[in-house]
Amino acid sequence: MSNQYIEAFVEDKIGVIQLNRPEVLNALNRQMVDEIVEKLEQYDESEDVRVMMIKGNDKAFAAGADIEEMMDETPLTMELADPFAVWDHITLINKPIIASVNGVALGGGFELALHCDLIVAGESSKFGFPEVQLGVMPGAGGTQLLTKAIGERKALEWIWLGEQMEAREALKLGAINRVVADELVFEESFRLAKQLANQAPISIRLIKESVKAAKDMTLMDGMNLERKNFYLTFASEDQKEGMKAFTEKRSPSFKGV
Ligand code: CAA
Repeated sequence: MSNQYIEAFVEDKIGVIQLNRPEVLNALNRQMVDEIVEKLEQYDESEDVRVMMIKGNDKAFAAGADIEEMMDETPLTMELADPFAVWDHITLINKPIIASVNGVALGGGFELALHCDLIVAGESSKFGFPEVQLGVMPGAGGTQLLTKAIGERKALEWIWLGEQMEAREALKLGAINRVVADELVFEESFRLAKQLANQAPISIRLIKESVKAAKDMTLMDGMNLERKNFYLTFASEDQKEGMKAFTEKRSPSFKGV
């Protein structure tokens, strides 16, 4: 697929996706979501990429699903096209994904950020679910992902009211990871991505699997998965390298095998 609504580049093992529909504040139409998901899957397969980043522009990470595209839908056209099903593919990505947010992350835009593993935001960025004001509700995972991130009470309040929340407030609730000066968002996201890219890739992947499993598994099942994943790391050369480097008092060099 040639990309119409995103741009993508790889630098220092970081695969960046730049949302590029500025005339409508990066409103996510179906093709744009397909392009994002396809690129994430390519990066997940690529040996040149260890960490992924999704960014918007100064005004918007993304202002939600494309309202014009949706407005004449019926339940049946929605059910048959099932436009949100493709979002499930993001949940299956193994490598870390960082959302780098300036401006608004609303509705589907906030859902896209919540599908990422870490969210770095500018101090004047805003997050929210305005769907209730359109007579609908979040449909690409917002009610589930936000609730799992911040708990039922705050999620209900936020989604019911449909209000935009300041980045610092979102940080306090635990909905996002870091808030920095607007002009430093990309730099800080990239720095964080590079830090992750320098860690042992197999550990990073198995940590993601284990942490994500915590919300769906019983404690015993989760502990069991963690333990098996811990044991599995001992199959890697990076485990040998990491422990050897410690005893030799030097920095490890991880290869991802
Ligand atoms: N869909 C389609 N077009 C959109 C859009 C969206 N979600 N958000 C913004 N745009 C368009 C506007 O229509 C406008 O286009 P024109 O210049 O052609 O008029 C352009 O982007 C700029 O927007 P504004 O003039 O409105 O900019 P603003 O700075 O005054 O306001 C805003 C910014 C508060 C974000 C406002 O644009 C807004 O409220 N947007 C809609 C936000 C929203 O409701 N999102 C939820 C969508 S539903 C959803 O996401 C469902 C789901 O769960 C997946």
